[in-house]
This record gives sequence, C-alpha cells and structure tokens, in this order.
Amino acid sequence: MTYIEQTVDYLRERGFESPEIGIILGTGLGKLPDEVEILAEVSYNHIPHFPTATVEFHKGKLIYGNLEGKKVVIMQGRFHLYEGYDFLDVTYPVRIMNRLGIKKLLVSNAAGAINLDFKKGDIMLIDDHINLLGGSPLAFKGVSKTGDRFVDMSCPYDKKMSEKIEAIAKRNDIALHKGIYASVKGPQLETRAEYRYLKIIGADAVGMSTVPEIIVANHLKLPVVAVSVLTDECDPDDLQEVDVQSILDMSAKAEPKMIKLFKELIADLEV
Ligand code: HPA
Repeated sequence: MTYIEQTVDYLRERGFESPEIGIILGTGLGKLPDEVEILAEVSYNHIPHFPTATVEFHKGKLIYGNLEGKKVVIMQGRFHLYEGYDFLDVTYPVRIMNRLGIKKLLVSNAAGAINLDFKKGDIMLIDDHINLLGGSPLAFKGVSKTGDRFVDMSCPYDKKMSEKIEAIAKRNDIALHKGIYASVKGPQLETRAEYRYLKIIGADAVGMSTVPEIIVANHLKLPVVAVSVLTDECDPDDLQEVDVQSILDMSAKAEPKMIKLFKELIADLEV
C-alpha cells in the first residue's frame, strides 16, 4: 500500500467518508469550522504520513462535516515551505483530499498588498500567480503516475467558480479585488527593494503559500479557486514595520467576508 492509500484509509476509518469540497484555511483564517456541522476531526500529528504542524498559531486539524448542504473537508492551517517542509510535504494534503473524492478545492491565504490601490483588510480573488518559490511540487520522478508532468497553467484558477465568487461579492456588497498573487518562500518579509521588484513584475499581492497547492490541483485536474485576505500594505516608499500579530489581527478582521464568499459559493456549487 502506498503512503497516500494508508493516509486515506486512516481518514475513512475515522469517518471522512465522502467529501465533495476541500477547503484550505490560511493564516489567521480558522473560523469557518464554527459554521460546520462537524462529523469528524483529527489533528494533523495523528494522521499517518502527514507532515506535523509546527507553527503554533495554526491549530493543525483536518475537519469533516456538513456545510451549506455539502460534505466538506477543511484544513485548519496548512504547511509552508518556510517551516522547513518540502514541496511534496506541503502539497500532500491536496493529494489526500483528492483521493478522498473532493470535486472542487477552495483556498485562502493572508497576503501583503503590492498594488497600492488595495488596502489592508480588503480581499482579493486570485486571478493568476507568479511562482517565486524556486521549485515545483511536480519535479519528482514518479509524477506522471497521477497526472501530466508538463501541466498546462494557462488558466490555473477555475473560471466558473471565480465568476460565482465575483457575483456573490457583488450581491453582498463586498468589495472584492482581482489580481495576481506572487509566492515567496519567506519566512522573512520583503525588503523595500523586493516590494518594488514584485510590483514591477506585475504582482498585486505577495504571500508564502498557495502556489504549490494550486499547481498540484491543476496536475490532478481538480478545479480550484483562491482568495487572499490582505493584511498589510507593501509601499516601498513608506514601508511600515509589520509583525506577525498585526497580520493575524488583520486576517481576523477580514475573515467574515471570506467566510461569506466561501459559504455562498459552496451553497451554489453543483458537485
Ligand atoms: N509578504 C509576504 N507574505 C505575507 C505578507 C507580506 O507582506 N503579508 C502577509 N503575508
């Protein structure tokens, strides 16, 4: 039995029977499970072959339950390259959720605003991305067993779901930007020169996650959408010091908007 089969068997035995939608919650965005009728939950460090959670502000739990009439599996906290995990570790949960049977994936993250028309506390639908991580979760020997090696990335974010999110935002008077997310490894934040560079290359937001998960979702032909919660403004000409706590506080402030978008999207989806 492969690692993936062992992990999936373990989760099925614990009640993760037939999830239709997978959700990854980013930094400071842990409240969606409060809205879920929880049927099963398990800490990452109990799941065989799962990377173990290290960053303390991540609760590190996989949750299964009913949300808006759908069966969902939620990652409360994710794995980052900056924690020392590799590309295969940080995308392992996407492969697991896929094997559990999800048909769609919803991703969220906290990010800095490079586009200065965007303000902290705003949210941004990710329309496209730039991978600055210096690697790929598909660069390993057996990759073609699960999908294409040379994965097409001409439209990595599902158009239909993205349009639905935009319509939901409009309907609920939620200001929603749309833009390009650049992923960096971190964990240090960027210098003024790096923020300037990110702007020049066309990024609207910058963060330390998401892109590996999106690449693997595309490899698995799993439709995916992603939303960034903007936690700080990255103005190279007037750069304010940020600390992790202010990022978490800003995530929490913007979180209700993200929850609204995800809940209405889930209600609306046919799976
Ligand atoms: N840079 C990188 N990652 C981030 C930032 C940032 O400014 N804000 C939140 N995550």
